[in-house]
Amino acid sequence: MRYPYYLILFLVFLPIGCANKLQQIDKIGIIPQPLELSTIQGEFIFDEAVSVNSDEKLYTISSYFRQFLKEKADISTKTGVLKKQITFSIDNGIDNDEGYTLTVLKDRIEIRAKTKKGAFYAVQSLLQLFPANIDKTKPVTIPCLKIRDEPRFQYRGMHLDVGRHLYSVDFIKKYIDLISQLKMNTFHWHLTEDQGWRIEIKKYPKLQEIAAYRNETLVGHYNNQPHQFDGKRYGGFYTQEQIKEIVTYAQKRYVTIIPEIEMPGHSQAAIASYPELGCLNKPTEVATKWGVFEEVYCPKESTFKFLEDVIDEVVALFPGKYIHIGGDEAPKIRWKNCSHCQELIKQKELKDEHGLQSYFIQRMEKYINSKGKQIIGWDEILEGGIAPNATVMSWRGTKGAVEAAKEGHNVILTPTSHCYFDYYQSDSENEPLAIGGFLPLEKVYSFNPIPKELTKEESKFVLGAQGNVWTEYIRTEQQVEYMAFPRAIALSEVVWSSLERKNYEDFVNRLEQYQQRLDQQNVNYANHIYEVKGKLKNNNRTLSYVLSTTSKTNDIYYSINGNEPNQLYQKPIPINRTTVIKAVVKNTNNEVLGNVFEQKINLHKGVGAKIIINKEPHPSYNAGGKEALINGISGSNKRFGDKEWLGFWGEDIEIMIEFEKPIAIKSISTRFYNGNGQWIYAPDKIFISFDKSSSANVSKVNIPKKDPLIVNSKTTFINTKARYIMLTIPNYGIIPKGKQGAGNKAWTFIDEIIIE
Ligand code: ACM
Ligand code: ZN
Repeated sequence: MRYPYYLILFLVFLPIGCANKLQQIDKIGIIPQPLELSTIQGEFIFDEAVSVNSDEKLYTISSYFRQFLKEKADISTKTGVLKKQITFSIDNGIDNDEGYTLTVLKDRIEIRAKTKKGAFYAVQSLLQLFPANIDKTKPVTIPCLKIRDEPRFQYRGMHLDVGRHLYSVDFIKKYIDLISQLKMNTFHWHLTEDQGWRIEIKKYPKLQEIAAYRNETLVGHYNNQPHQFDGKRYGGFYTQEQIKEIVTYAQKRYVTIIPEIEMPGHSQAAIASYPELGCLNKPTEVATKWGVFEEVYCPKESTFKFLEDVIDEVVALFPGKYIHIGGDEAPKIRWKNCSHCQELIKQKELKDEHGLQSYFIQRMEKYINSKGKQIIGWDEILEGGIAPNATVMSWRGTKGAVEAAKEGHNVILTPTSHCYFDYYQSDSENEPLAIGGFLPLEKVYSFNPIPKELTKEESKFVLGAQGNVWTEYIRTEQQVEYMAFPRAIALSEVVWSSLERKNYEDFVNRLEQYQQRLDQQNVNYANHIYEVKGKLKNNNRTLSYVLSTTSKTNDIYYSINGNEPNQLYQKPIPINRTTVIKAVVKNTNNEVLGNVFEQKINLHKGVGAKIIINKEPHPSYNAGGKEALINGISGSNKRFGDKEWLGFWGEDIEIMIEFEKPIAIKSISTRFYNGNGQWIYAPDKIFISFDKSSSANVSKVNIPKKDPLIVNSKTTFINTKARYIMLTIPNYGIIPKGKQGAGNKAWTFIDEIIIE
């Protein structure tokens, strides 16, 4: 290690103060985790003149790095050969266009890549070797190492819906900047919606005058009936000049923008400005609440002309190869009742309205292909026959991805189960209002974009994955940041890092350090890594409660029945009566990190019994397993996606609870979720019997539906003793007309079955 003259003086006279004069990161913690990383003894210290030399092709990247050094660390660099040097070289021996090598030695930093993009990613890794908060008065030290890196997937994206709420140009740039730091290369910009059209189209001025504004906005959650509105006009749009500015900004960060122009559904705002685009040819308004709307484009020649004109202007603004045409959630009711649509179905010999949707998308694909671009559509574009060259974005689970890949189409995974960052990320009751669902950080991290059903050959069609940020309940830029981060950070590792290198615990350690970089950039990220989680353990009917937290460097303290949580947690807490547990995470200075966790365990007679369900819950809503129904813990009153609720889609279910020996039963209570806006319906009735065969001694229980969201029922029994309880829960059936999701099967969500 070579010290500058003044440091040598310190070494001689002030040996203890020396270490404080250098600054360095606590530990190497690059996100996303590189493919190969080996540390080397020693450090590169910025304590004397440093030269930066670059292949001409990489000059923009080396300049970008020099600018960082100057602005953030007050380090000026020279060209030419100095004792300490940084070099940027093109290396055609690197296979992957996005790959790079980064070598840090005591006197040299070498960046090698095949392309500018690879070199840009090398710099992103290099920047994470600098401390987050650089003190310009002290020399910076970065650890010696060698990295060889390349992405696992070619498509690494984040989406943002600006239709429901829109955000400033500066914020869109910040979002792009933040995702580029994570080596994400795509920004999917959802620009048109029922509630607002956000892209200036010069040929159609009413899109700016009418479609860009709504009269008011729903207040609170859609599930809270009756609906209330704020009475305030809301809206705006991005001018073509602003869009060009954003596109250029993104290009400099190697982020491609995919614009989404929704068709045939989610187009009520456009139809409000030009009613002739719809089947009814009648005035409508820009939507003021959330959901799926029946006004969709009518496939008339004049509608196609409008859409082609729109595409012409869109194509001119976005240099990337893809245009997203939406295709999701397009109700067919208007088409069913429209003479033009029905005539067209006959004339084109289409099977039905799904065939018509397929015709619509294929026709637009042909036009978009003629402009040298490819289409992406949500997985509904598979219904009625997929357009020949389309890429499918699979959001309703992974079924669409499997089907499309097997048909030889490229796919991008964005399943609600792992990629919907508008869902809640914590089951804390203090979370800001969100659409529903439950998608914690660890679940995002656990995602593998290659569905199990695909062979190795078929899995080559999986281009990658994307996080979606739908913004019905996200009014502010700070809230976008809260929902997107840190889940986008976990996703960056899903799409970049190799499976072998993924490790959640290690990720969380690196995330703690990465948060300092987010703090530096004023990002309002959510921090749940100091949250306590609890789980009831049933060991041969001996019950205990296990506490855990993600960050392993801190301790959990707890209390039982109301005291301050100051008892160090070391082993599972025995549970032999109804108990309230409070817990917090504290650091070594005894400071509380994160929020207080509180859980009541209601030790009713069913807790710890054996349970069998004749159907598996849906894989997206099975987090707690079947035992969650009799673990003494009731799920959230606000959301159905936590680990206490089990979700079943369209199925009748039978639940058998078995005790060791017959017990006295006085009552059985059930809880159903009834969020009709999310296709969830409590059953009208259930059946209870105390025999293993459900046909004997059946009681029919009519389920009351007074409370719109949570439906409780309690059935009492006199002089009943039984070893078995059989519950038969018929599905509600098909969602009725006029409701969200009409015509689809309803979901059943059930929570704790309390037996007393
Ligand atoms: C979607 O979430 N409607 C694609
Ligand atoms: Zn029509």
